[in-house]
Amino acid sequence: MYFKQILDERLGCASYLIASRESHEAAIVDPSLETDVYEDLLAARDFTLRYVIDTHVHADHVSGARRLADRHGAELCLHEAARVTYPFHPLHDGDVLPLGQLRLQVLHTPGHRPELISLLIINPPRSPEPSMVLTGDSLLVGDVGRPDFGGGDASAQAESIRRLLALPDYVAVFPGHFEGPCGRGMCGRPSSTVGFERRFNPLLQLAPEAFVTSLTDHVPARPLNITAIEATNRGVAAMEWAMLTTAPPVEQISTEAIPAGALLLDVREPEEYEEEHIAGAVNIPQGELADRLAEIPRDRTIVTVCRSGARSLRSGQFLKQMGYASVVSLDGGMNAWDAAGHPIVRGPGRGSRIVETEWMHAGGART
Ligand SMILES: [Fe+2]
Repeated sequence: MYFKQILDERLGCASYLIASRESHEAAIVDPSLETDVYEDLLAARDFTLRYVIDTHVHADHVSGARRLADRHGAELCLHEAARVTYPFHPLHDGDVLPLGQLRLQVLHTPGHRPELISLLIINPPRSPEPSMVLTGDSLLVGDVGRPDFGGGDASAQAESIRRLLALPDYVAVFPGHFEGPCGRGMCGRPSSTVGFERRFNPLLQLAPEAFVTSLTDHVPARPLNITAIEATNRGVAAMEWAMLTTAPPVEQISTEAIPAGALLLDVREPEEYEEEHIAGAVNIPQGELADRLAEIPRDRTIVTVCRSGARSLRSGQFLKQMGYASVVSLDGGMNAWDAAGHPIVRGPGRGSRIVETEWMHAGGART
């Protein structure tokens, strides 16, 4: 067999090329939109692409599955529960896809998303048992996939993990992510084993109730442009551009350096904004930024704001990628704002109306 894990360092995603060295048939799992790496591998090894499989409808990055399947006439495979607008080969729990002498067996492991599957890789000439499992965003290394990316369910995730942990200790675990927003505490290793995760994955040491609570309490922010990316992967939008693919420089400014006339763009979740925000700040969560670009003016400086400065920096980079000329990020976010003793406003957002406060007109940062 041939097995290659391809790591996308920028997105924290892992994709896979599995092939039979005898029949030269290949399958690609969870491909990224930049497909050159797969094309090069297929050409170099003279493989024929037979299947392209997305373990689930991704919400954090645009999939290259349709592009590859179209180009190679390969079968585009997803679990039958996938709600997408384009035709695909529906997979069911227990289905087996032959790939030369290899077998890819489908294990339905919902939780992160309802349609998420894991794939057992079996090489019968060596063993009738699987030696590897591709887990998508069910079991991650040191973590499990978040259930809040669209139709997910923490209890279903617990049951899916239980199924995966029934596999023998020696089965190698290859996840869909090694970094990024799909989990909260991935260790960074790109692979593991069932035995190691059973013993040392902190979430798997919890009782079922505590496991569910840990996934549903204090849910982290939705990733940048999640709504546009998920819609694109379902086929109801064509917003491939909604992925952050560049890293343009964005100046990080102090609370005292907010320029006069700037628009404060708060990219946190609505609940965070309601709890406290800067007077006049407009709330567009980073998850909805791409869908709501029309609400963001291009004729003034945009100051992105979040809790600590991480989301605002990524959002600022995305706005620059989209051609916004003047974008800065509030260094330290609301944490820095609070620490400096500046006043805050509590309450719901003001929709998309651009608000300019007196102090903005009065010459920059408030007193
Ligand atoms: Fe995911």
